Amino acid sequence: MCGIIGYIGKQKDINIGISALRKLEYRGYDSAGLAVFNSDQKEILCLKKAGRIDNLEKEVLCSNLALQGNTSLFHTRWATHGGVTDGNAHPHFDCKKNIYLVHNGIIENYRELKDSLEKEGHVFTSQTDTEVASHLIEKFFKGNLENAVREALKHIKGAYALAVMAKEDPNKLVAARLSSPLVIGISETDGYMVASDATALVSYAKKIINLDDNEIAVMSPSDFFILKEKQPEILETKSEDIQKGGYPHFMLKEIMEEPEAIENSIKGRLIPEEGLARLGGLQNVTEELRKMKRLLLVACGTASYATLVGRYMLEEYAGIAVEADIGSEFRYRKPVIDEGTAMLCVSQSGETADTLAALKEMKRKGMLTLGVVNAVGSSITRETTAGIYNHIGPEIGVGATKSFISQLTIMALLTLFLGRQRNLSLIKGQRIAQDIQGLPDKVRAVLATQNAKVKEIAEKYAHFNNFIFLGRKYNYPIAMEGALKLKEIAYPTHAEGYAAGEMKHGPIALADENCPFIIIAPVDSVYEKVISNMQEVKARKAPIIAITTEGNEAIKELADDVIYIPKTSEMLTPILTTAPLHLLAYHMGVLKGCDVDKPRNLAKSVTVE
Ligand code: G6P
Repeated sequence: MCGIIGYIGKQKDINIGISALRKLEYRGYDSAGLAVFNSDQKEILCLKKAGRIDNLEKEVLCSNLALQGNTSLFHTRWATHGGVTDGNAHPHFDCKKNIYLVHNGIIENYRELKDSLEKEGHVFTSQTDTEVASHLIEKFFKGNLENAVREALKHIKGAYALAVMAKEDPNKLVAARLSSPLVIGISETDGYMVASDATALVSYAKKIINLDDNEIAVMSPSDFFILKEKQPEILETKSEDIQKGGYPHFMLKEIMEEPEAIENSIKGRLIPEEGLARLGGLQNVTEELRKMKRLLLVACGTASYATLVGRYMLEEYAGIAVEADIGSEFRYRKPVIDEGTAMLCVSQSGETADTLAALKEMKRKGMLTLGVVNAVGSSITRETTAGIYNHIGPEIGVGATKSFISQLTIMALLTLFLGRQRNLSLIKGQRIAQDIQGLPDKVRAVLATQNAKVKEIAEKYAHFNNFIFLGRKYNYPIAMEGALKLKEIAYPTHAEGYAAGEMKHGPIALADENCPFIIIAPVDSVYEKVISNMQEVKARKAPIIAITTEGNEAIKELADDVIYIPKTSEMLTPILTTAPLHLLAYHMGVLKGCDVDKPRNLAKSVTVE
């Protein structure tokens, strides 16, 4: 999704802003732009280009504009309103080329605003919703930028993170947010940088301030103020967290970090001898959770598959009635709720618009709301009453990998926590805790021993256009995750994930030599059923790739290729079966020449509806 950088400080070199903008590339975008106030010329100079930041940089090098100045704006745009053109890229400006701004989010009433501004004589140069904000600020501008921004925001409906500057009120950067993240980075020696994602600030600032909804920040090179007084927090992301560390792609690095992600998510949270999970973030709501009868799990994309696995875990071992739904549907439902119902949102970024909207709605209804979130200080963490952090550092690849493995791990910890509050016995609790503790080494072993085999499979099958993924019970959501990863990373390959038992109600029509089936079949309580489905596929001559438990040689009679995972308890098998599927999507994506870290049309953090 779109990325915002604003800079105000002692330096005049725009590269400081461009390199921060590069750190937001992972979010997905289709054009980029910048504006800088040149104090000698007393003008704001602006360049915008469709395509990658490289295109913009080339334009900067060829341009004869004096692109230097200590107040500047930078943006990566992910098109919503209006096509991918230079003109629709940000920054946007007013009629007098006084006000320049960059925006994330959607201005929902832009049509009415545009009509009335046009009637008042404003001339628009783009098809975007954003441009109305610059003209609206122009309308209220009487020499003081923050006053004009404050007035303009009263008329805007929707979501925004904005950074604005004006040549007639120089040495000032104004930033504002509503439902779209914005962070201020404070340099120890220079000035201030605002960003839509703290990841961009790591080389510049040690301290950050997360803006809250309806707050407006006003910055000069040496000072800043916000309408409400706030204490800076320590920025925990380190520079090495957002570098490839010798890997060709972030996606591969992050898959290889999956064992470490599990370690970080369980660190200090397991007491195996007592069969307990200690979840500090839930401490304040322990008693409410003990009384809870029903849990609504809400998430989007890959995170929603973690909630589906969580549903099986929580029902089987904690005896809680669980519903799992995607944010974009849940937000428009009218769920039947009572005092014993709580909601748990799962989100890596903590900013996904549909999950956040569903959460706000349930909060309004007085429900206990919880979160499983990776991004510290993000909107979901601030809206929920209590929660559990993933603690896995930033995830840069657009397709979620290590965050998914961590979300599954936290679902297991939560199951242990809630289960032991209820009927789960000490013995069973101890066994689950021990098995959770053994997971990092087992995933490490899968990555070390199966990567070469998975790569070979990718090479053998890369020319097929359609794949069906099948799994049952705990591994049904993993079939969907495997298919989602393959189609998003190795496009235009098409893949569908199905419950193995549903195959006979439709997908079996596709079974022939041209449609490989990837069948997840660990030796568990539904193994025999999955084998029957595999027989049905085999009878129709479709190629079969199976994922099963070590030692299962018999499966080779049915499957053309086999990937092995170590033994673990049934509810934890998804954590082991996922890793090879992530590798498969990665290798196939690379073979097809796809941009695996930034797949086309996708965004890391989807902050619009
Ligand atoms: C986007 C990403 C996915 C991610 C989903 C949910 O679609 O491309 O990888 O699973 O958003 O993101 P969240 O931050 O809420 O986990």
